Amino acid sequence: MPQYSELGGKVALVTGAGSGIGRSTAMAFAGQGAHVVVSDINPDAGEETVKLIQEAGGQAIFVKTDVTKEGEVQAVVDQAVSTFGRLDIAFNNAGLTQNSAPLAEQSSDTYDEIFDVSVRGVWLSMRAEIAQMLRQGGGTIVNMGSMSAVVGIPGLTTYSGSKHAVLGLTRGAALDYARQGIRINAVGPGTIDTPMIDRFVELAGSDSVMEPIRAAHPIGRTGKPEEVAEAVLWLASDASSFVVGQILMVDGGYSVQ
Ligand SMILES: NC(=O)c1ccc[n+]([C@@H]2O[C@H](COP(=O)([O-])OP(=O)(O)OC[C@H]3O[C@@H](n4cnc5c(N)ncnc54)[C@H](O)[C@@H]3O)[C@@H](O)[C@H]2O)c1
Repeated sequence: MPQYSELGGKVALVTGAGSGIGRSTAMAFAGQGAHVVVSDINPDAGEETVKLIQEAGGQAIFVKTDVTKEGEVQAVVDQAVSTFGRLDIAFNNAGLTQNSAPLAEQSSDTYDEIFDVSVRGVWLSMRAEIAQMLRQGGGTIVNMGSMSAVVGIPGLTTYSGSKHAVLGLTRGAALDYARQGIRINAVGPGTIDTPMIDRFVELAGSDSVMEPIRAAHPIGRTGKPEEVAEAVLWLASDASSFVVGQILMVDGGYSVQ
């Protein structure tokens, strides 16, 4: 991974950092010398990420957070500031998958669950993070989109709709704050091998659901969490200083077919 010297000593908050892409990215920020606030709804998973960071010589704290709860989202930002003095970077990554089914067969519980975490979670998180960044004079935010933020995916309409909304929030907030030193972008992964994909297979009841998905990635494989972390670090670093309101696709070519 390239070294971004400016990330050393920066304070980076990662939501959903107990697993998958969030954990990889939290570890990558710590590897650059950033002080990492590991946030997750699952305390065991979050504490494990902190342990992995500390074993590798990095600095991190865990703050249990449900990103759908306004008070908890504010509390994690407050904790970042009380522990490390500021908040320079936020990666709003927490998310859930859904069962694959056409829209008319999906329940409104699925809608509530997916939109609460993806959309309300990113909305609440950005609001609290931006308020702190304005007090300090700047910062960078990366929101978790998906290939399904830019194309429809059969059977995943609710999930895809929520990720399209994340892109809309990203673009609007990026314009609101571009002149105030806060750069806001999104990352758009294709299918990445994480526990979320294991859960997707479990909901489908068969691994065969993955065959067409793998085949649909022009590069001929699914991705690794570390490959997404690379893109997030770049977006959070000064290397992307003129990049505003974009979604950087890390999808093996899925969305350009
Ligand atoms: N894996 C993929 O193929 C893929 C592709 C595109 C986008 N994404 C997105 O990447 C993000 C991370 O996914 P992943 O694949 O690493 O999944 P994962 O299941 O491995 O990790 C998700 C983490 O989010 C946490 N989380 C769930 N609900 C939460 C809540 N309400 N508050 C706080 N934390 C919560 C979970 O505890 C878990 O640790 C998600 O937003 C997902 O939609 C994943």
